[in-house]
Amino acid sequence: MSYLSEFLKSKSVGAVSSSSKSLGKYMFGNLDYSNAKVIVELGGGQGVFTHEILKLINPECKLLVFETNEAFCKKLKDTMQDDRAVIIHDSAEKIGDYLQKHNFEKADHIISSLPLSMFSLELKEDILQNATQFLSDRGQFLQFQYAPFDYKRLRDHFGKVKMNFSIRNFPPVFVYRCSL
Ligand SMILES: C[S@@+](CC[C@H](N)C(=O)[O-])C[C@H]1O[C@@H](n2cnc3c(N)ncnc32)[C@H](O)[C@@H]1O
Repeated sequence: MSYLSEFLKSKSVGAVSSSSKSLGKYMFGNLDYSNAKVIVELGGGQGVFTHEILKLINPECKLLVFETNEAFCKKLKDTMQDDRAVIIHDSAEKIGDYLQKHNFEKADHIISSLPLSMFSLELKEDILQNATQFLSDRGQFLQFQYAPFDYKRLRDHFGKVKMNFSIRNFPPVFVYRCSL
């Protein structure tokens, strides 16, 4: 099982290889996790970012990881030997349902690798609406994309959006840092 084989089955995987740890550090390494109770990861894949996030969060903080691909989800469940990680085989727009199920009101930060450009307009809007609704006032929504096409859409949902280009990954990516 690889990104390439899963991508050939479904374009919603959005990548033919895993992202780099160094992209992860650049995206979310400097967030404030000191008082965080719950972080949400959208699109866990094979867990490169999941492992990096677990190194950063405190021992009481939970990490809710959404992943729709069954094979990746199984791999995440098999390899994530950490009680803080909750692997959810469901789609990203259900953030609120799962936060509530785990007794949280809002996510402290949301870290997304979702291939937004592969999604229908309806799904993309649904995910972004839920992300803004269930993000803490002081939290950040982090997203990377291979092309800058969703900048305006993110601006429509978030009060502030910063976009940077990063060569810490192959292929290089655009990183968005959004807040309410
Ligand atoms: C570009 S890959 C990134 C995986 C990993 N985080 C990385 O950076 O290497 C995107 C992941 O999002 C998952 N995905 C696609 N649509 C999703 C959805 N609606 N909800 C949750 N995960 C989804 C895909 O199955 C895939 O594993």
